[in-house]
Amino acid sequence: MLNVTVVGTGYVGLGTAIMLAQLGHQVTGLDVDARKIDQLNLGHLPIYEPGLDVMLAENAERLTWTSDYTSAIPHADVIFICVGTPSLPDGRPNLGYVESAARHIAANLNGKVQVIVNKSTVPIGTGDWVTRIIEDATDPQHHNRYFVVSNPEFLREGTAVSDSLYPDRIVLGGDSVALQRMRDLYAPLIHQNFTAPGHSPRPAEYTVPAVVETTLTSAEMIKYAANAFLALKISYANEIAGLCERVGANIDEVVSGVGFDGRIGHRFLAAGAGWGGSCFGKDTSALITTGQEYGYDMPILQAAIDINSRQRDIVLEKLRKHLRLLKGKRVAVLGMAFKPNTDDLRDAPAHDFIQRLTQLGATVIAHDPVAMPRARHEWAYLSYQEAPSAHAAVRQADAVIISTEWSEYRALDWDALALSMRTPIIIDARNVISDPLTVHATIEQIGKELPKPLAVSLGVTA
Ligand SMILES: NC(=O)c1ccc[n+]([C@@H]2O[C@H](COP(=O)([O-])OP(=O)(O)OC[C@H]3O[C@@H](n4cnc5c(N)ncnc54)[C@H](O)[C@@H]3O)[C@@H](O)[C@H]2O)c1
Repeated sequence: MLNVTVVGTGYVGLGTAIMLAQLGHQVTGLDVDARKIDQLNLGHLPIYEPGLDVMLAENAERLTWTSDYTSAIPHADVIFICVGTPSLPDGRPNLGYVESAARHIAANLNGKVQVIVNKSTVPIGTGDWVTRIIEDATDPQHHNRYFVVSNPEFLREGTAVSDSLYPDRIVLGGDSVALQRMRDLYAPLIHQNFTAPGHSPRPAEYTVPAVVETTLTSAEMIKYAANAFLALKISYANEIAGLCERVGANIDEVVSGVGFDGRIGHRFLAAGAGWGGSCFGKDTSALITTGQEYGYDMPILQAAIDINSRQRDIVLEKLRKHLRLLKGKRVAVLGMAFKPNTDDLRDAPAHDFIQRLTQLGATVIAHDPVAMPRARHEWAYLSYQEAPSAHAAVRQADAVIISTEWSEYRALDWDALALSMRTPIIIDARNVISDPLTVHATIEQIGKELPKPLAVSLGVTA
């Protein structure tokens, strides 16, 4: 078993650190955010991620949390960099956190063979750049004693535990000495011979992950190419959904029929309010800017970004079509996180909805099953009221936008909710309502129309 240090204990760093402890390694998680480290030292997970809190508790004896590079780096056989790489205004990723982490790591290497792993999503060429930073900042006698590897992360927030224990593939880019250590580190994952935790059993159909061993550059490219393709799939579904609305087709039936083609598949072919989160927007923009640096246009990716942004406008247009003047209106926004089962608010469509609605003079009442406490800090500059429940948000509202497909919103009694509204206008931007309401309501969905209630389609009036 190896000593591992994970630098950056956000969504990826925590998933990585706790998964490696579950495999039996001794892991130190390091973060410059002292508040996060204090919480972790008290046994609390600073993010919402289903099952990860249980796995944290079960592996507590193999996990240490600190903000101190001098104690966390020298003994580590493998050091993961999992810090953020948010977009700069021009679309390039901000590598300031990676650079700072690399310098602190370099200053504390101890001269034995150590492998530094870029798990953050970093632009193509960053592996070599990190190697140069470390070379410049470390004792010359340690040169050639450390290796930089690219091991991009593919976990999805909301399903991070099973994604990290049962990955589709493990991508490793670097030279052969370093890759041998990575194979040792991941051996229990590669062979799937670790004891699966009770809360996250190995799926029956799952065997072993594909292991892709390649160069640093190709590994970095794989991550961007994968994310860009997923973003593209969502934008494609949204573009087709717009045409479905115009010709009277049903996007759910269309993508279902399309997705049965094994070359296409059903996953990520869902129409809605478009993608959000910390990765797709940032990574598609980064790929385009890398193309620009090399004089190479990427029009398909630019179109995917434009369609995603248009999709948010389309949702608001649907609302304005029915509500017209927004000044003085009360609009409920259900769902703040960028997707269900996470409290991550980064680039969430709800953010843009709240901002735009309040600019137009509406009062916004928002609800989310888990993300409201985080929003209190991260969206403190936005003007909205919190509701303790979806019912409370919707009561006396002039309209509601469903912006995140939480399963609890699917399960709501939409008849009762419509009756509690001042005007029952429901903009279902995630197509969560599957059955027609039995009471009068205006419902807009994406790429389809709900069938009319039986009474209405038979021409029966109350
Ligand atoms: N979130 C995802 O679903 C996901 C999935 C795959 C890949 N990624 C990539 O992984 C990387 C991390 O993403 P995240 O969502 O975990 O970010 P995050 O913002 O949740 O976490 C980053 C953490 O790094 C810490 N940090 C910043 N600078 C530091 C430093 N110098 N030393 C120590 N800690 C430092 C921050 O305090 C923060 O806790 C990004 O490059 C992202 O694109 C994210």
